[in-house]
Amino acid sequence: RHDFPRIGIDAIALAVPRRFVDLTELAEARGIAPSKYLTGLGTRRMAIAAPDEDPITLGANAARRLFQRSGASPADIGLCVVGTETAVDHAKPAASFLHGLLGLPSACRVFEAKHACFGGTAGLLNAVDWIASGSARGRAALVVCSDVARYALGSAGEPTQGAGAVALLVRERPRLVEIEVGQTGTYARDVYDFWRPLHHKEALVDGHYSVQCYLDALAGAYGDWRRVAGDGDPLARTCYHVPYGKMARKAHRHRLAMDGLTEQAADESFAVEVEPSLDLPSRIGNIYTGSLYLALASLLNAEARALEGQRVGLFSYGSGCCAEFFAGRIGPEAGAVAAALEIDAPLDGCHRASVAEYEALRKGDEAADRRPAPEGAERAAARLDSRVVYLGLDS
Ligand code: HMG
Repeated sequence: RHDFPRIGIDAIALAVPRRFVDLTELAEARGIAPSKYLTGLGTRRMAIAAPDEDPITLGANAARRLFQRSGASPADIGLCVVGTETAVDHAKPAASFLHGLLGLPSACRVFEAKHACFGGTAGLLNAVDWIASGSARGRAALVVCSDVARYALGSAGEPTQGAGAVALLVRERPRLVEIEVGQTGTYARDVYDFWRPLHHKEALVDGHYSVQCYLDALAGAYGDWRRVAGDGDPLARTCYHVPYGKMARKAHRHRLAMDGLTEQAADESFAVEVEPSLDLPSRIGNIYTGSLYLALASLLNAEARALEGQRVGLFSYGSGCCAEFFAGRIGPEAGAVAAALEIDAPLDGCHRASVAEYEALRKGDEAADRRPAPEGAERAAARLDSRVVYLGLDS
């Protein structure tokens, strides 16, 4: 093994839309037993985005909050990657919008990474390698995962929507999670499980097949990780990509079966090893690229202090597909750092929208997409200001 410097996630921040739909109400409106959504899928709420809450404003607000709460400065950043599969332009990358809105240095590499829900992980692991290679020259990386997840109204995928952004500060001597550099397990295969053709606002999905693709990819990536990482401390917790809570339960069973454990033993360990990571995902929904990092944020929010010095597993899946399993160690002062970050505070101002309000917002989505580009960019800045006030960042 190489002797890499200590590299990983130093700080984390979220941004979420103002509104959410309660899934009991959605089930009733669709004539479905609420227990199917609550227990069958393991979902409680889904965040819904208004036209002024697109992946740019959500991503910029998460990053603004990251700088404000962590004490880092935009001047520290030499690489900015935005992972998204719901960008506002086919050519101009979301990272360029953020570069302007955040005031990042001109000597900064910016780009957007697209690979369904894997785009954020592609950004994170790229940032880690950029630092390990020496290219960073002491600078930090900003990785932003930002998406608005949409399926057709009334479809089976509808209760698994969500929206939000997670911003990660990646640097040497990280205070939250030190990533095990060069020790990832990878799996890729060309599958048609979930896709969104050009000009489609809503994703298309072969739902049950996508679940099987996720589990096959987990088996491939975890098997590769075990070969690459060899023996090490046991994983105290594992965060999975969470399209909905039940998927994490299926994943945990599947992974532990590879370690020779029974389904019953996997379910017993689930409450301790996985459930703390599912609180925020169950209140926000699937946020695609940010989903795994929302699970990690949830875990740190609940247990950072108790987990100091311990090893956690991370599993990222992106349809299409590519998956990666890797591990990190929670820093010795992560509890105090996570408390200062107030990770879940952005959820405080959210309010419940009726199903009628949600459907009306969705109808306005198409018009929001047809904004002319220059006007859209100006509006993005204006919207950012109003959202900054909303999130209380200047207070
Ligand atoms: P469905 O077909 O409507 O649901 O859609 P189902 O009939 O399979 O039922 C779901 C579960 O609820 C089942 O439990 C039922 O037994 C249970 P399971 O067998 O799975 O353990 N159930 C009930 N439980 C309690 N009370 C009841 C009741 N009725 C049924 N009354 C599906 C489910 C996930 C397919 C759908 O929501 C969907 O298509 N979602 C979108 C796709 C998705 O999330 N796929 C996940 C893997 S792919 C992925 O994660 C990538 C992704 O994030 C995209 C990216 O990479 O960019 C999606």
